[in-house]
Amino acid sequence: MPDKPAIGIIGVGWVGLVSAACFAELGHEVWCRDIDTAKVETLRRGEVPIYEPGLRELVGKNEARLHFETDLAPVVEHGKLLFVCVDTPPTYSGDADLSRVYAVVNELPASGDHAIVMKSTVPAGTGGSIKWKLAEMNKTSLSYVSNPEFLKEGSAVQDFMNPDRVVVGANGDAIWSGDAVAALYEPLGCPVVRTDVASAEMIKLASNAFLATKISFINEIANVCEEVGSDVKQVALGMGLDPRIGPSFLNAGIGYGGSCFPKDVSALKQLAGNSGYHFQLLTSVVEVNELQKRRVVNKLKKHLGTLIGKDIALLGLAFKPHTDDMREASSVVLAARLQGEGARVRAYDPVAEDRAKELITGTEMCDTPLDALDGADAAVIVTEWPEFAELDLEKVKLRMKSPVIVDGRNLLDAEKVRAAGFVYEGIGR
Ligand code: UDX
Repeated sequence: MPDKPAIGIIGVGWVGLVSAACFAELGHEVWCRDIDTAKVETLRRGEVPIYEPGLRELVGKNEARLHFETDLAPVVEHGKLLFVCVDTPPTYSGDADLSRVYAVVNELPASGDHAIVMKSTVPAGTGGSIKWKLAEMNKTSLSYVSNPEFLKEGSAVQDFMNPDRVVVGANGDAIWSGDAVAALYEPLGCPVVRTDVASAEMIKLASNAFLATKISFINEIANVCEEVGSDVKQVALGMGLDPRIGPSFLNAGIGYGGSCFPKDVSALKQLAGNSGYHFQLLTSVVEVNELQKRRVVNKLKKHLGTLIGKDIALLGLAFKPHTDDMREASSVVLAARLQGEGARVRAYDPVAEDRAKELITGTEMCDTPLDALDGADAAVIVTEWPEFAELDLEKVKLRMKSPVIVDGRNLLDAEKVRAAGFVYEGIGR
């Protein structure tokens, strides 16, 4: 392999595009393929179709090394390591939908020079099934490597360039490709964990399921804190200093969302079930998360009585700050529940409005937080965008009909808000 081998990326969604831009930044020619012609045209014009900090700049800077195609042929011609980055959404049964992965496998030529490098999140065992499929198609010479991604939306470029670890799973028949993939990450100076394929697949699912469990755990602690008068922020601080627990992912709130946690928890639960094991803990993790999204409704009722005819302002809609991603965002369930209770909902999000409109109906989208708060009986902080912490509380109070704030992300300084004359409810405080 040359020092900086050309790389193929199949599927230029969020993972594919971030990986492509970062590999280009590391000096590789990157040949990308997507079946979405409009997206490829957009990228060829130098435009970036998703909001991810630093990505636009990186794509612009590495324009000459990034090639966007709708055909697979040029990608296979130039790149030997073919990263599969297509999406694997959940099906109605909770399994991962692997149809896009298999569409790629079907299309690839039989070649001893090429390796499939799986970045899409797939259930443990998928690599084995793909090898079986390749044998059926007389494509056994194609090598197979699992290289799961651990990028977080909103800091994906940063995460790619500064990973805490990279996992490369390759079986005994794929040593050259495992080595080649591991070598790509050498400049990043992070630990590279070499495993077999099935273990690499499981590391990804187990990591996300563990993090989701941590969130549901702290959310339940928060709910108990409310009953007994403890403050979950102080509790999390005290717990997190134990290195066995660690401080991250202990922020209580109105539930996790996004493209990974709900999908991966469900996929692992389903994978276990399919193999005859009932993963009881994950069943509770999911249930706690669903209930957590709805707890805000009772908090509002506590202060407003009935919600019929009440105006509720939602501040933030994206599943977390610094992204316009609305997948599995708590705001979608919350807005529907509030409307179900007879409330009128107005909302503001600095970047997710367009995507939110596709999922949240009957809600007035506003251009500024103050517009959303105009005449509101209560406000709910749904996403912890930093700008909400900077709001001028005097102006907010003048705009609202009644000064009630439910802080679904424990973003605000409770004492300061109360001192400004608001009724303040956080989560677990
Ligand atoms: C996650 C994983 O972190 C990443 O490694 C994987 O590759 C993809 O899934 P992402 O979905 O981008 O990344 O978001 P993340 O920052 O992990 O947050 C997920 C959700 O959990 C968000 O809705 C967030 O608000 C919520 N969360 C996170 C909490 O409620 N509390 C916390 O303490 C942390």
